Amino acid sequence: MLFGRNIWLGGLAAAIGVSAIGQDTCVSFQTSASTFTRTAFDFALDIQRVTGIKPTLANAPVSSAPTNARSHPPIIVGTLGKSALIDQIVNNTKLDVSIIQGQWESFITREVSNPLPGIKSAYVIIGSDKRGTISALYDHSEQFGVSPWHWFADVPVTTHSELFVNPDGCSHGPPSVKYRGTFLNDEQPALTNWAMEKYTNGTGAWFTDSPFNHFFYAQLEQVRITVSNEGPLSLASAFNVDDPENQPLADWWGIVMGTSHQEPMMRGTPIEFEMFETGPWDYTVNSEVIYGFWVNGTIRAKPYESAGDLPLSETENIGLLEKSVSDQRQILTDVFNGTDVTSIPQMWCLYQEVQGYYEDGMRVPDDDWGNVRHFPTVAERNRTGGAEMSGVYCHFDLVAGPRDYKWVTTYEQMSLAIDRDASRIWIVNVGDLKPYEMDIEFFVGYGWDANKWNRNNLDDFVTDWAQREFDLSSADSLSISSILANLTRFNARRKPELWNSTTYSLTNYREAETVLSEWQALSDASNEIYDKLSSAVQPAFF
Ligand SMILES: *[C@@H]1O[C@H](CO)[C@@H](O)[C@H](O)[C@H]1NC(C)=O
Ligand SMILES: *[C@@H]1O[C@H](CO)[C@@H](O)[C@H](O)[C@H]1NC(C)=O
Ligand SMILES: *[C@@H]1O[C@H](CO)[C@@H](O)[C@H](O)[C@H]1NC(C)=O
Ligand SMILES: *[C@@H]1O[C@H](CO)[C@@H](O)[C@H](O)[C@H]1NC(C)=O
Ligand SMILES: *[C@@H]1O[C@H](CO)[C@@H](O)[C@H](O)[C@H]1NC(C)=O
Ligand SMILES: *[C@@H]1O[C@H](CO)[C@@H](O)[C@H](O)[C@H]1NC(C)=O
Ligand SMILES: *[C@@H]1O[C@H](CO)[C@@H](O)[C@H](O)[C@H]1NC(C)=O
Repeated sequence: MLFGRNIWLGGLAAAIGVSAIGQDTCVSFQTSASTFTRTAFDFALDIQRVTGIKPTLANAPVSSAPTNARSHPPIIVGTLGKSALIDQIVNNTKLDVSIIQGQWESFITREVSNPLPGIKSAYVIIGSDKRGTISALYDHSEQFGVSPWHWFADVPVTTHSELFVNPDGCSHGPPSVKYRGTFLNDEQPALTNWAMEKYTNGTGAWFTDSPFNHFFYAQLEQVRITVSNEGPLSLASAFNVDDPENQPLADWWGIVMGTSHQEPMMRGTPIEFEMFETGPWDYTVNSEVIYGFWVNGTIRAKPYESAGDLPLSETENIGLLEKSVSDQRQILTDVFNGTDVTSIPQMWCLYQEVQGYYEDGMRVPDDDWGNVRHFPTVAERNRTGGAEMSGVYCHFDLVAGPRDYKWVTTYEQMSLAIDRDASRIWIVNVGDLKPYEMDIEFFVGYGWDANKWNRNNLDDFVTDWAQREFDLSSADSLSISSILANLTRFNARRKPELWNSTTYSLTNYREAETVLSEWQALSDASNEIYDKLSSAVQPAFF
């Protein structure tokens, strides 16, 4: 064909009866669908990364479909009920879209015949909503061989001259957990210094000195796991004022901006509060100022998808807490007038000591050992919005009393959350992001499809991940899962943070030597694989 080779879309090379989708592909959108043109741009770029051929990207209504769409079957992307083009194709082809209709973050893809006048065949990618469509595109990119971590973890793209797609396409959704998110919390010093150098020419934002501007966030959104929700970096920054483009940018990527307990009503404390307001952050004595502060944050967030934490005070005064909660509901009612307040995403995080308020002053155990503290009881699940409303906030990495804890693996506790219907929102505080790529992807991916993973196939996640990231043989991938299984097991004997000179005996049973040699074997097994890799893959593996 035009470039002397075919581009077939999709990753299922073994598919039978595959259909040519064409090299000069084009992706069409209804014009108002600019909210996901960012992803479409990535999608086109990913095809180029894999095949070396740049597809034509067009955002066009039916009447001005790109002319080459007639000779080269296009890929047509859009959201059901939001794209006139997609709706017309569904009508013309009688495509059964009932499995995604009205669903949350779902999609189907299919090869269709005669979708539009003059177009014999097309591959259509149809989302049930904005994030359904975005997920479908990134799902294809991943199958092409572009890792969701290709930028952040330096994972190279394996090139192919041909891509194939199964004409029956694929489908997904709705996800097991409605909102799945991450929260980067340990931004100082590593991430901050790096972002300062990379994105700001050394000058942070006014007042906060934060380097987390929209250049940084644009890069962060390049982690294409199925995150729907993201917490801002809150401790030393103020998401919405560090760079006014941050909030619209997140929306453009389809990210629902969440706020942690640090940012009630989408406004940061203490930083943003101290920047703009006077008086203490204390609802007993400064409620008027705090009320106004929250009103303004709510107005500012109104155009974007957000899920704000409800407010918390420094005291276990239940009456005061109830008043601040009811004031917040009033603000939401006022600002979103005309919208039923119970339909606006709200979140209340029972974090550490805060759980005590909920439990009416009951003492909370003084530890943070990686167990979910409270699952909804039967009676709570019965409440309006009870089970629906509940979720999990957890840390991979907790820097707090009584001892730091950085070695959490997620399946066991999160499967309990699924069993107990705590599945409306999951947020993981990932500390510094960088060492937790696989764990983050598992957390989010398990929330995306909890039916896929169980205690008997967890190692498959690791081997699949190793194969995808490093193009390993299956033997080497199995070796990786053995290394990680042992690593987890050894760490669970006692967390390295808690080791001291008496943990393993230096004098009896050669205990310390035995433990050390087990670790040495892990290190050797890992180095053996590293040494076999090409220099292009070694940085990602490292
Ligand atoms: C759907 O297709 C039918 C013909 O099959 C046509 O009569 C109708 O106008 C179409 N509806 C829309 C909304 O395009
Ligand atoms: C850094 O400086 C260069 C050169 O002046 C400028 O083009 C670029 O936009 C600056 N970047 C940021 C993030 O301010
Ligand atoms: C809220 O915003 C208005 C308009 O920008 C400003 O005049 C007012 O001072 C703000 N109030 C608070 C409490 O931040
Ligand atoms: C409520 O909506 C009306 C019109 O829809 C508007 O005029 C008014 O300003 C809104 N109130 C608030 C508090 O936003
Ligand atoms: C749940 O709700 C049903 C119907 O309202 C009620 O009959 C039942 O007793 C409730 N169960 C609990 C544990 O509250
Ligand atoms: C993991 O531990 C098992 C049991 O101790 C051992 O047989 C295996 O060789 C270890 N794997 C690696 C990669 O060290
Ligand atoms: C080592 O840790 C154990 C358990 O936390 C503690 O009881 C012991 O005092 C510690 N020993 C030293 C030498 O720090």
